[in-house]
Amino acid sequence: MIKGFIFDLDGVITDTAELHYAAWKKLSDEQGWHFDRELNEKLRGISRMDSIKVIMDHNGVSLDDATIVELATMKNDIYVDSLDDMTPEDYLPGARELLTHLRSEGFSVALGSASKNANKVLKQLNAVHFFDVIGDGNSVSKSKPAPDIFLFASDKLGLRPDNCIVFEDAEKGIDAAKAGNFHSVGIGPEERVGHADIRFDTMKQATLFEVKSHFKDLF
Ligand code: BG6
Ligand code: MG
Repeated sequence: MIKGFIFDLDGVITDTAELHYAAWKKLSDEQGWHFDRELNEKLRGISRMDSIKVIMDHNGVSLDDATIVELATMKNDIYVDSLDDMTPEDYLPGARELLTHLRSEGFSVALGSASKNANKVLKQLNAVHFFDVIGDGNSVSKSKPAPDIFLFASDKLGLRPDNCIVFEDAEKGIDAAKAGNFHSVGIGPEERVGHADIRFDTMKQATLFEVKSHFKDLF
């Protein structure tokens, strides 16, 4: 029986990938590192510290831990500044409608994001009121593909994983949902989230009606 929904944030509720890209690009340019959109795709869903390690590995760079933290903080400062321009107009099409519908139908709803900036993003979107529980990059120490953030969210909702559907746009996010025994909805292309229980190209297609019709035995 489905009683709850757990949403990833970046790439599901709003598209921050371009803002993350711009911030990593600025940092990489300053460091003389190569960084492009293809590499940015590899950062989808993974934590800030895992992200900088992917970029450093790609560039054959190794640095001491304190310097890595300092550089990741520089990137974060650029990213956080860019969030000031985000407004309630910046939901991905369909996301606000789905959240509103879930609220009106009485489902429990949680956020399960790897981002330590999730609260700021939700405030900019005026989306805090949609969530009973907010799980973010500060809630657990093991990030996706570990299931911990989704287990944190379901636990706080008081639900078992098999009572919840996770919405994710990242390959590692779907891996995390599956590792935790959650039902999963992938948002994005087959090659990225084709291993989800069901997949939609965009959030606009992921209406409650469509989700219910795919998981009909569970509602
Ligand atoms: C995820 C993004 O939601 O959050 C990743 O998909 C990002 O690209 C991660 O690295 C961590 O975000 P933040 O805001 O804590 O740097
Ligand atoms: Mg995401």
